[in-house]
Amino acid sequence: MQNKITSILKKENLNREDLILLLSANPSETELIYKKAAEIKSNHVGNYTYFRGLIELSNVCTKNCYYCGIRKGNTKVQRYTVTDDEVLQVVRYALDRNWGSIVIQSGERQDAKFIDRIEGLLKKIQALSSIKVGVTLSLGEQKIETYDRWLEAGATRYLVRVETSNEDLFYKIHPKDKLHDFELRKQALKDLQKAGYMTGTGVMIGLPYQTMGDLADDLLFMKEYDIDMCGMGPYIEHEDTPLYRYNDVLLPVKERFDLTLKMIAVLRILMKDVNITSATALQAINPDGREEGIRCGANVIMPNITPVKYHDAYNLYKGKPQIVAETDEYIRKLEEQINEAGDEVGYGELGDPLHFKYRTEP
Ligand code: 5AD
Ligand code: SF4
Repeated sequence: MQNKITSILKKENLNREDLILLLSANPSETELIYKKAAEIKSNHVGNYTYFRGLIELSNVCTKNCYYCGIRKGNTKVQRYTVTDDEVLQVVRYALDRNWGSIVIQSGERQDAKFIDRIEGLLKKIQALSSIKVGVTLSLGEQKIETYDRWLEAGATRYLVRVETSNEDLFYKIHPKDKLHDFELRKQALKDLQKAGYMTGTGVMIGLPYQTMGDLADDLLFMKEYDIDMCGMGPYIEHEDTPLYRYNDVLLPVKERFDLTLKMIAVLRILMKDVNITSATALQAINPDGREEGIRCGANVIMPNITPVKYHDAYNLYKGKPQIVAETDEYIRKLEEQINEAGDEVGYGELGDPLHFKYRTEP
């Protein structure tokens, strides 16, 4: 079997069967995969990890994804929205530390008030600095016109996770209605590319009834959609969600963690010059989880800079780390671990995905 993995790793083009075999590799074979991913990362995007300050802007959400702790139907959640002034304060924190980029993530809303507010906020963020601030939005599916307005106001990157590329599985983890539509989700990625964003997607790993074939298809989906960025993490159950009832069919948490690292490594091998985030959900399972992601091919970390008083309320899943990323002590430690993993922090750079430069037109 080891020979088999070695010969797959030598191939130029990987097919579905190759991907399934890589994802099913045993621990000693997995080391070969990580080594290959690290080599490709070094050759194609360099040994740099970029920080993006993550702002969880609001947990108000109009959607009802079955897995998510802040879904509209969860009445136990206390809803909050961070004010513009508070956002500007933490953006300044990120700029002072020379991170260059931030991510604004929020529950999903499509109303005019929300759209206007984001537009205004983006302008204020860009006015903070004479140098362009890298702004990634993760604000869900929107109209093309909204993507255009936000791009104009200063955002350059956008993430919409497809969550799974298997349509049947998609409708097992989402209600089947107009708000949660598999085709529209995929269309959003195309619209974003057309609008001119660096476009990212991602999936959850270890969902109930998800197979290795599904995960291989997820990787092929990312290749087919020619995405520039990816953030994928383990599925972690939340007891106040409908999906919790499938708890007894889940892989053990440690296996979901390992499988996520493998997905990161195999994606790096498949799409050499994309940006890959080492997701916060990895850290929820293992305190050093994100650093392991860096070792396996990821090159972006998003330290949470949301004002601390809101942390408890953005509970997407069980055990989500409530870490005070603001402390210099924490960042120093993170940097040390990144260095141990063989990377330098890409200070003062936007760290845009190289893939975007070479992407074929949508
Ligand atoms: N486990 C892991 N990730 C989750 N997300 C939401 N709920 C969970 C969960 N229970 C992720 C989804 C979503 C992002 C905001 O958080 O992938 O796109
Ligand atoms: Fe809302 Fe996103 Fe959670 Fe779905 S995953 S319920 S869209 S915050």
